[in-house]
Amino acid sequence: MCGIVGYIGQQQAAPILLDGLSKLEYRGYDSAGICVASDGALKVAKAKGRLANLSSLIDGGKAVEGTVGIGHTRWATHGAPSDTNSHPHVAAEGRIAVVHNGIIENYLKLREMLSRRGKTFRSETDTEVIANLVEYYYDKSKDMLDAVRKAVARMEGSYAVAILCVDQPDIMIAVKKDSPLIFGFGEGENFVASDVPAILRYTRKVCYLNDGDMVVFTKDHADFYDSLGDKVVRQAETVDWDLSAAEKGGYDHFMIKEIHEQPKAIRGTISPRIKDGEVVLDDIHLTKDYLSQLRRVYVVACGSAYYVGCLAKYILEKTCRLPVEPVLASEFRYSEPVLGEDTLVIIISQSGETADTLAALKEAKRCGARTLAIVNVVGSAIAKAADDLIYTWAGPEIAVATTKAFSTQLSVIYLLALYISRLLGTLPRQEYNAILHELEHLDQKVALCITDDNLSKLRYYAEQYYKVHDAFFIGRNVDSAVCLEGSLKLKEIAYIHSEAYAAGELKHGPISLIEEGTLVVAVATVAELFDKTMSNVKEVKARGADVFGVTTERFADEIKKTVSSVVTVPETHPLLQPSLSIIPLQLLAYYIALMRNCDIDKPRNLAKSVTVE
Ligand code: AGP
Repeated sequence: MCGIVGYIGQQQAAPILLDGLSKLEYRGYDSAGICVASDGALKVAKAKGRLANLSSLIDGGKAVEGTVGIGHTRWATHGAPSDTNSHPHVAAEGRIAVVHNGIIENYLKLREMLSRRGKTFRSETDTEVIANLVEYYYDKSKDMLDAVRKAVARMEGSYAVAILCVDQPDIMIAVKKDSPLIFGFGEGENFVASDVPAILRYTRKVCYLNDGDMVVFTKDHADFYDSLGDKVVRQAETVDWDLSAAEKGGYDHFMIKEIHEQPKAIRGTISPRIKDGEVVLDDIHLTKDYLSQLRRVYVVACGSAYYVGCLAKYILEKTCRLPVEPVLASEFRYSEPVLGEDTLVIIISQSGETADTLAALKEAKRCGARTLAIVNVVGSAIAKAADDLIYTWAGPEIAVATTKAFSTQLSVIYLLALYISRLLGTLPRQEYNAILHELEHLDQKVALCITDDNLSKLRYYAEQYYKVHDAFFIGRNVDSAVCLEGSLKLKEIAYIHSEAYAAGELKHGPISLIEEGTLVVAVATVAELFDKTMSNVKEVKARGADVFGVTTERFADEIKKTVSSVVTVPETHPLLQPSLSIIPLQLLAYYIALMRNCDIDKPRNLAKSVTVE
């Protein structure tokens, strides 16, 4: 996600801003920029690519003099990475400059309103709308606080914003809603930043702003206002982390941080795409006529993204009554797939740069199939090459082992299933509404899977299992696809040999491997198949297996008649249940890897994006 930094004090601002931005590089970005207010001007420098590009552009900051400034590392959400789309953004008349982390969901409506009132725009970003909106109100009152308050009242979505006004260079205003923002108390200087690492070198006295907070500050003073506009006191906390821990927000690893980010990431993927009881996918152009003539849908990807494809088969076939075939990208491109205009190829990729997946996309296009990509990294090769594109907006995923990207890819599949089913009329309205209702609350139920109590349970079970050499994951229907992902998590971060099987398949050979103490993870959330899965559990228990069960609260008592080690997840619509049942498997793998002293964020032999075949 983007990172912002603001400084107001007695030192030259530019070098401090560059240093602060460098401490936010871990968050992932594709461009950077700063703005310094001095001598009656807003001096802006920005550059696509690495922060070093910006630093060399301004001679390490020496070329931009002034003691008040804002800086930004951009992780593109609206508008591809470019100098023009980079922040800071300056309003049309040059009086207001802003940096922003978040997504303004109603930016198009605001942009149209402002354009009608004479404001001009240079970029494709939602952030430029903020700058022009503040300037629009400032033009009327010449009161910066009043202008910011009125602008914020019109903004919908998530934001952490720092704002400068050329007429009042000794003041900075920052506002926060849903995106993180901290205030740093200095001596004769003050700071705002997206995260602690950016300012830890200058002060350890910080306060974490609340949603709706606004802070108006100079180098010597700060006034805080709450969401009702009342002046409040915000106490400083002392950060006792070192820089490395601070980059992970106090978590031990990026992976556990990103597991905890899943509720917010899922909300960010879903909520902007549900309006007035309908799924709205403005990013794609699948018409009823096109969909009605479809003969087959392929879902093509690698690794965890492929396992989302395996889940997509169940979800799309059930809701859209279209034949869906998940295919590994590395196989797809050499299997002479039967493709044509009557085939839709859905491509899933977090990085958007996976070589096999990109090649499969090109093969699909070469054969005349329409391609729809589900991608996290904005402006990536796959994002650019696909006919249709849906971003997951999960924010940068740093850990090699995917968690929030997997969850948001799956969330997009749910949205796509509802969207297509409405066009094809394949889902009764009541069922559509039931799924939509659960989708709107999915983030809250995911959060219930990550409570301290559940973390303690998974840590306890990890202590039972971290010495095993082999593990099996078994389940039926969507649970079998969840097992594929759970098994991969254990393999890639804990280095334990693990296999996932459809539970009904064990007796056709693999059960010969079950012996005393073999770990079998049984995922049993599909109600109508619960008893059958329990039968399979009894088969492996009879041969000495040590079974760890994952089920819904509804089956909590029933499963304990067979399995003693159990974690339950909240009930949701059966098609959405995988988003919940995967969480304990992520956590189990994480804690087992922790106890095996593995390099969790950078597992051996693995890369975050496999850009070679
Ligand atoms: C998942 O934890 C792994 N990092 C890996 O399987 C990954 O999902 C796969 O390489 C696909 O990457 P992509 O989503 O960036 O294309």
